[in-house]
Amino acid sequence: MPLVPQYIESLRPYLPGKSIADIRREFGVQQVVKLNSNENPLGPSPLALKALERQVADLHRYPNGGLDLRAVLAQKFQVKIENVVAGSGSEGIMSNIIRTFLCDDDEVLTTEAAFIGFQVLARSRGVRYRTIPYKNWRYDLPSLAERINDHTKIVYLANPNNPTGTIFTRTEFDDFYKRVPERVLIILDEAYFEYARQNPLYPDSMQYRYDNVITLRTFSKVYGLAGVRIGYGFAHGELIKNLLKVKLPFEPSSLAQAAGIAALLDTEFMQHSLELNQKGREYLIKALRELEFEVVPSEANFIMIVRDNEEEADSLVKDLMKQGVIIRPLKSFGLANCVRISVGTLEENELLVGALIKIRSKTYV
Ligand SMILES: Cc1ncc(COP(=O)(O)O)c(C=O)c1O
Repeated sequence: MPLVPQYIESLRPYLPGKSIADIRREFGVQQVVKLNSNENPLGPSPLALKALERQVADLHRYPNGGLDLRAVLAQKFQVKIENVVAGSGSEGIMSNIIRTFLCDDDEVLTTEAAFIGFQVLARSRGVRYRTIPYKNWRYDLPSLAERINDHTKIVYLANPNNPTGTIFTRTEFDDFYKRVPERVLIILDEAYFEYARQNPLYPDSMQYRYDNVITLRTFSKVYGLAGVRIGYGFAHGELIKNLLKVKLPFEPSSLAQAAGIAALLDTEFMQHSLELNQKGREYLIKALRELEFEVVPSEANFIMIVRDNEEEADSLVKDLMKQGVIIRPLKSFGLANCVRISVGTLEENELLVGALIKIRSKTYV
């Protein structure tokens, strides 16, 4: 027997987007615009920063497993604390879901090119991972329902979806849900829900507190806290009870928990972030279309561009990097001909468009 199981050996590790330091080093550019990880371009929530400073004095103490944040979230979202879990980012909770609920013969079902973090976690469990294609870059929920079989244990749906930025609607989800057996766990990953919830068609899953649905949310996006690793989830008490048995006892860290609690109160920052994103997204979509790029309409804080082939996607990424703009190639997700661009500040968006104009007119060096 080999020391490393075959399904781990053949796993492709999660490759995060390149950093500002990487680009400075590789291309010798000074001004770098980072539009590859769907982070908040305004930085962290100011209230969260203050809470972090206060929390530092208690770093010698062990954290309480997210209890305080769970209580605050339960009150905010009008559920019981038994229905809330907090963890090291929504990926931390995803990892616990996979460890808690999947057995060797189970299967995971989702769309093609699903969020790479989920792909890596699910594949690392060594169970069968099945996908169905997108339809117009959206989840094809009827086909997903059709493909559920006796082995399907988890269906993963991200809404809005990363990397396409598209959503499925309330009616689409209602029709889908009716076709899912109760023994199948639906993960509704709502990492970007704050950006989409103004859309009346968007199915905020707090209204779907079914026994087999777990909602995952994060402080990494609109709250600007990707670096401290804090996320949360809602589900039936039985699911949460079992998740808590598997979770690392001291996850999330006390710093992460304090930042999350404070960020929830930072309505001003949230409002500003959403407005900036809305304006930036409209500006970018218009500018990209004027430059004749094929753009997928987005409900999130990023936009996907479809190129004709992998070479064109690669050269777009490289030509932008040479000008100090980092965007995300999507080959690792499974869409080699596509790239994803996060919405930045107004200035960052303009720098990106300026760089694209140079590429289109072949005047960049
Ligand atoms: C769909 C989706 N889910 C989850 C995450 C991860 O969030 P977290 O930082 O909370 O682990 C991301 C991050 O890019 C994402 O796009």
